Amino acid sequence: MVPHLTGLTAEYKVNPLGMDEPQPRFSWRVKGTGATMQVSRRIVVRDEKGGIAWDSGPVAAGDSVLIPYAGKSLRPFTRYAWHAEVSFDDGTIATSDETAFFETGFMGAPWAKSKWISAAAGQGERRPATRLAREFSIDKPLKRARLYATALGLHVPFVNGVRATVNRLMPGWTQYEKRVQYQAYDVTALLRQGANVLAALLGDGWYCGTISRIATPPGTCGWGWTPQFRAELRLEYDDGTVETVGTDKSWSSFFLNPAVQENDLYHGEEYDATVDDESWKLPGFRNLKNCSGVTEAGQGAGEIVWNAGADVRVVRELRPISRTRRPSGVWQLDFGENVAGVERLTLKSAHLGAVVAIRHGEALDAEGDLWCANLAFAKQRTLLTCGKKPLVYTPYFTFYGFRYMEVSGWPEEMEDDSIVVEVLSSATRQTGSFASSNPLLDKFFANTARSQQDNFVDIPTDCPQRCERCGWTGDAQVFSETAMMNFDCGAFFTKWIADLYASRTPQGAFRSIVPFPPGAANNATEKPWGLAGWSDAGVVCPWMLYRKYGDRRIVERCYEGAARYVRNQDEADDNVRALGDHLAIGANTPSDFLGQALRIEMMRIVSEMAALLGRDDERRHFVARRNARLAEFQSHHFSAEGELDVRTQTAAAFVIVYGLAPDDNARCKAAALLADDIRARGNHLSTGFLGTPILLRALEESGNTHLAYELLEQTTCPSWLYPVTQGATTTWERWDAIRDGVFHASWMNSLNHYAFGSAAAWLYSTVCGIRDIEGGDALSASWKRFRLAPHPGGTLTHAEARFDSPYGEIRSRWERTADGIAYTFTIPCNTTAEVILPGESAFLLGPGRHNIVPAGPRRTAD
Ligand code: BGC
Repeated sequence: MVPHLTGLTAEYKVNPLGMDEPQPRFSWRVKGTGATMQVSRRIVVRDEKGGIAWDSGPVAAGDSVLIPYAGKSLRPFTRYAWHAEVSFDDGTIATSDETAFFETGFMGAPWAKSKWISAAAGQGERRPATRLAREFSIDKPLKRARLYATALGLHVPFVNGVRATVNRLMPGWTQYEKRVQYQAYDVTALLRQGANVLAALLGDGWYCGTISRIATPPGTCGWGWTPQFRAELRLEYDDGTVETVGTDKSWSSFFLNPAVQENDLYHGEEYDATVDDESWKLPGFRNLKNCSGVTEAGQGAGEIVWNAGADVRVVRELRPISRTRRPSGVWQLDFGENVAGVERLTLKSAHLGAVVAIRHGEALDAEGDLWCANLAFAKQRTLLTCGKKPLVYTPYFTFYGFRYMEVSGWPEEMEDDSIVVEVLSSATRQTGSFASSNPLLDKFFANTARSQQDNFVDIPTDCPQRCERCGWTGDAQVFSETAMMNFDCGAFFTKWIADLYASRTPQGAFRSIVPFPPGAANNATEKPWGLAGWSDAGVVCPWMLYRKYGDRRIVERCYEGAARYVRNQDEADDNVRALGDHLAIGANTPSDFLGQALRIEMMRIVSEMAALLGRDDERRHFVARRNARLAEFQSHHFSAEGELDVRTQTAAAFVIVYGLAPDDNARCKAAALLADDIRARGNHLSTGFLGTPILLRALEESGNTHLAYELLEQTTCPSWLYPVTQGATTTWERWDAIRDGVFHASWMNSLNHYAFGSAAAWLYSTVCGIRDIEGGDALSASWKRFRLAPHPGGTLTHAEARFDSPYGEIRSRWERTADGIAYTFTIPCNTTAEVILPGESAFLLGPGRHNIVPAGPRRTAD
């Protein structure tokens, strides 16, 4: 195959609209056969008239990931086309065959043609959604139309009654008082000559729903009390003129008898079809009764910024795998997997006034009824009053975490398509997979990916069901490595990291939840040094984005903040504390031990960041401070004989993985402590949120990979596979969420928390050996150069993993044969792998598919 270029993105996105980065970064992949290596690249960007905005000229370079634009200043509201021309080491050349583009948005210009608007009244206890509309006229040929829209709250935009986008839960959750995102939509095809209507349904969402008040004192709110909407519809005509329809006082609202009577992320949605119709979003709506003016608001919003993140979409649909009638007469539906999503209800006939109630839960209790004890006060229910027509309804402003539904009052025959689940997520492209001879392990991997999808709904949440669903920073940072291998989440983390930084305390501490409602009690992170393990997300996540996707700019943008945080930690002396090894089982690692150890690790990462950015003084500073803190740690925590004082698996794993031992003897003793403790527990772990992600690595790095496998394949509680044996389809919050058929007594017992799934990183990195080279040279960022170091073990007779890296798909497979272990590797074009097989010396492999047979001379084949 002749090499060609595919997968073109700008700022991690395919053909983004409304993009505001002054120097967007371009990426592509080389596809082809043979040992193709790129030797030079040229990027050409043209404006709408075909004029050259940037011609990089040929640059002798092999990289093709996140290459920054360096041309003329980009103009707002302009479509730029771009392509890449690449030459290869075999003399061939390729030009990108896709018509890639990016379209700029405001580029920092103010939103001069619109105001924030909200409904004057109607926000009672039940907090109905607001309907907003504006009629306008188009009287000459239209070239194109773009809708730029945002909200404090959630909105669904309509043009002439038609939903303007498939995206959900817009504009997403950000640190609203600092930054509010807008999205851009191409609505040209929805407009017509003559009268048109731009409308929006506006709900509470994260801005002013119950979730925003979760940590606030009674009677106060998180961000504000009333949702607001803002939009600019930019109409570009054939004659070159431009008109903008913006939100202002000329808009109308309909706040009485709203169809969406209650909307809340925790509690659900209440919809009354008897009072709904299309007329409020169609021309002529002003003749309707209940139509009144709007209020221009505008308090509480920060800067309006482009949506650098990943949109929430329907990622798949589920139909029930079983449908049963309970003795009480309610329907019980089982959708077969625990997901985050909403239902789409289809009623084929009219049932005026009939009321359907749907409750959602993750499991069934011993009697076979819906189990809701772990939802705490989140109601998670849909209430529908049927109207005079057949109906299709999906809640607009909520989602639920569930596998089962209990449906009462269903007024007609229940069929497979009556209730369909729309699974929602921002993790839309899966980049990693794993399969082996152990089906339980495969299921564990699949559960990890599912929990990620369920918890990557606009922000990384702890869980999607109970009254939390917050961006707990500790959970996100421990899972970030696995996350970035499982799914393409460059855009997702770029956005959330911006909020991590925007939500910092005035002294520069990262919060324990992000976004952080400004009205919330400043509990855990009130100290400048924050809360180790959780606040560390501000250091770990940007660094992981660099390691996994080659994103140098995130390090440039975050460096000062990360360094400041670590300096504050340094000044904390002995006060630096972690939130604990959350949900460890049968062991307690003191919080100050964790805090001190993590501080040393953060100093290492920040020194690596400084080295990357060429800030040598800073690098030296952090290396020196790390050494000083390390010496202090060692004198506190190791005896003269090299014995560690904290006798837990987590403590020992920290010592091994974070390099905290004073010498080899002490390290060996920590390794023995770890192995002995695991053995003493009958090959069981005892780690929590902080120890678990590094536990297998600690065993591997201390020469106990066989024990790591035993732990990995353990099926009794506590272990990674135990939930799988209990039929789990997602990762549990607790090791013992369900034991002997009995649910843990705490309400804090989510069946969908990804933190313990962080072990999946080891399936890539060690079982199949696909790993990045941390701290390597510029070539090793973004997988231009990487390592293949599989370590077969356990009961496995074969294993394989795939990682769709920024340079293309990497595959690694091994299989035990009669002669030994056979390996098959796929290395993407334009990359090099350092292969390290057990007991052999390292060698390099270039692009292509390689079979490495056991014994005899090594054979490779394309
Ligand atoms: C959340 C966790 C979080 C923890 C911190 C819990 O309630 O669900 O995932 O990290 O609190 O204490």
